[in-house]
Amino acid sequence: MNLDLINLDGFESQKLKELETELNLIAHKTINLDHDSLVLQEDNLYFNFKKERALTPLEIDIQKGALGWRLARPQHETHLKKAIGKTERSLRILDATAGLLGDSMIMLALGHSVTAYEQSKILYTMLTNEITQLAETDSNLLNFRLINSNVCEANFNEKSFDIIYFDPMYPEDKASSARRSDLKKINSILEIEGLASDPESTFTYLRSIPKTKLIVKRPLKVDAFEGSINYQITGKSVRFDIYLN
Ligand SMILES: C[S@@+](CC[C@H](N)C(=O)[O-])C[C@H]1O[C@@H](n2cnc3c(N)ncnc32)[C@H](O)[C@@H]1O
Repeated sequence: MNLDLINLDGFESQKLKELETELNLIAHKTINLDHDSLVLQEDNLYFNFKKERALTPLEIDIQKGALGWRLARPQHETHLKKAIGKTERSLRILDATAGLLGDSMIMLALGHSVTAYEQSKILYTMLTNEITQLAETDSNLLNFRLINSNVCEANFNEKSFDIIYFDPMYPEDKASSARRSDLKKINSILEIEGLASDPESTFTYLRSIPKTKLIVKRPLKVDAFEGSINYQITGKSVRFDIYLN
């Protein structure tokens, strides 16, 4: 992988050793702006994009910013709640596309248990670092599992989950301005890892899991996947296409 691992802490830690082994990289002590770098600083990880990409660093901080605000008020998520459907019990949700974990964390805050798949090892490493730190204080995370794999490689049946949630990649120019920069960063990371996104075949795979409701999140400007939608929940910039099996 064409990536530098940077240790700004200045000493060798257990975490650094684990990162070196997991990513098969040897840590350096200074950032080279002409390279993409995963940077360890005070137990936190952030991604520094090489300067020709013209992107600000990616840091995963679930409790801050817009996501932190939404997580403090999960009952305001009316469209997502409608898409999930009225229920008194906690549902088992598969988030097929973890990304930066925004949707997983909201579904968790709504009281459900979530298993999320993320194909990118870099994102998985950053997310795991964040989740491990938050787990000490956030008991919701007891109901969360993150798996580093392409979801299509898993073997599910009708009993595995109540709901499958799918938020695939889509062209950056169709995203809202708030989402565009996140999508660009995720796309760059997937490119560094040589990972291609194939939303159509992932959709076909998820659609084939029997007796499980599939919720597909789409920007308003993006067409639906092929096949008949049972119903749609439409918000200001995104909609949820619901497929029942
Ligand atoms: C649009 S982002 C999801 C954003 C996420 N819902 C959030 O709130 O941050 C799509 C993510 O799904 C991952 N992904 C796409 N296809 C996948 C697959 N078949 N298996 C696992 N991960 C996948 C991509 O690597 C990317 O990180």
